Amino acid sequence: MTNKIKNICCIGAGYVGGPTMAVIADQCPELKINVVDINIKRIEEWNDPVIDNLPIFEPGLSEIIERCRNKNLFFSTDIAKHISEADMVFISVNTPTKTQGIGAGKAIDLKWVESSARQIAKYAKGFTIVVEKSTLPVRTAQTIKNILESSNKGSEDKKFSVLSNPEFLAEGTAISDLKNPDRVLIGGDDKNSINELVRIYLNWINEEKIITTNLWSSELSKLISNAFLAQRVSSINSITALCETTGADIKEVSEAIKTDQRIGKYFLEPGPGFGGSCFKKDILNLVYICDHYGLFEVSSYWQKVVDINDWQSKRIQNIIISKLFGTISGKKISIFGFAFKANTNDTRESPAIKICKGLLEEGCRLSIYDPKVNQKQIEIDLGIPVSIPSVNNLNISGWEYSQSVIDSTKNSDAIIVITEWNEFKDLNWKLISREMRSPAWLFDTRSICNIKEAKKNGINVWRIGAE
Ligand code: NAD
Ligand code: UGA
Repeated sequence: MTNKIKNICCIGAGYVGGPTMAVIADQCPELKINVVDINIKRIEEWNDPVIDNLPIFEPGLSEIIERCRNKNLFFSTDIAKHISEADMVFISVNTPTKTQGIGAGKAIDLKWVESSARQIAKYAKGFTIVVEKSTLPVRTAQTIKNILESSNKGSEDKKFSVLSNPEFLAEGTAISDLKNPDRVLIGGDDKNSINELVRIYLNWINEEKIITTNLWSSELSKLISNAFLAQRVSSINSITALCETTGADIKEVSEAIKTDQRIGKYFLEPGPGFGGSCFKKDILNLVYICDHYGLFEVSSYWQKVVDINDWQSKRIQNIIISKLFGTISGKKISIFGFAFKANTNDTRESPAIKICKGLLEEGCRLSIYDPKVNQKQIEIDLGIPVSIPSVNNLNISGWEYSQSVIDSTKNSDAIIVITEWNEFKDLNWKLISREMRSPAWLFDTRSICNIKEAKKNGINVWRIGAE
């Protein structure tokens, strides 16, 4: 069977649109793919000949961009042109939590999805398959259909079919997740359109991994998948506190329960709480939907997953302050890792933001090091401009940006490991302890450091979920 789809447009050149379209372009050289965005700077970065300047860091991404860019993969701000040429349009725009109006703080702001649908309605020609790639509240496809259909008044030349094809990639492993996904989920009510999308995925994915459902099951499954993953993280994190007070060790407990195949081995790593742009907003959206349908027991069950997450980062802050003699004013604290997880430069909802803000309020000086997050991003996240590095002037609260672990630990009273970057697993504790003030502390919120070595070199250690 030959593919009818030749030309794809993806609206949104973000963490999902960029890598997803890069992998499709790489696997389907016969397709022409244009990724469009209203953010001019982002498109310029995707087109930057210096490959290190791509807007997103993902292992394996730059190699694909170098192979496909300007061959069958293009990044552009000319949204009208590329929608009008496309047989299939992916909507891959941001869907954050509403900050004002009805549902503020919980419901999803569909502003960007709606504007994408309006752009498609305006510029599309002939028959166009519209694919929801963004994570959306169940029944959003109906809203998109309504917008698209209203554009057809008075003109017979536009026809649309709407599919849901949520993305399950995780940041840091996006390329391998896209190349070898657990499943591809496609929801729709038009068999022919579903088949067109299935044919694209069949270029590199086995048929048995492709699940087709109705539109609403597909939309809802994405929310539920994220809710279940986040729920596991909150479950294990809730037990870290119990371990710390009973003498059990979360590492041992987690390893012991993982061996039960019914529980499974993933998403049981203790930490400072889940971050990232999606878990919190997707669960809050689930809570909002359940409340909307009067399912209050269900909504309060899922709300607890978010509550435990907030509690975990606050709890860690309090422990740090209490171990440092109840005051951190005038002390220097080294923050190792600012990204919400390893192997990404994304800081959205990173637990580091909450922890750093809380510590700064107590009057300390932070020295922040992250191998991939730049100074500008930290300034935006903390809402405080960087201050000049200082060794002795500890009385001025503020934060400085460090280029390395050693640079950060000079005269430091404590180290807090927040992101599980590989380089923190095997640090030179001998060297570090020489740089630090005494008594020196290590707070390992990810349980990844070689604490034996740290202790051997005179550093006091607090490890999450251990006595
Ligand atoms: P993002 O903020 O990185 O990217 C979204 C892009 O869409 C932005 O660059 C924005 O400028 C652009 N945009 C918004 N409205 C537009 C319009 N009308 N026309 C053109 N461009 C427009 O967001 P993201 O992380 O890529 O997430 C996108 C969606 O995918 C969200 O619904 C998210 O929940 C979902 N998702 C994200 C991930 C992830 O790991 N980040 C994984 C799976 C699913
Ligand atoms: C998550 C899901 O894993 C993806 O399937 C989904 O597509 C995506 O959300 C989305 O919809 O945006 P992501 O947020 O990129 O992906 O990263 P995860 O690996 O899920 O980690 C989320 C957070 O949980 C991170 O802060 C991570 O450190 C934390 N985590 C994860 C733990 O603390 N412990 C674990 O065992 C696993």
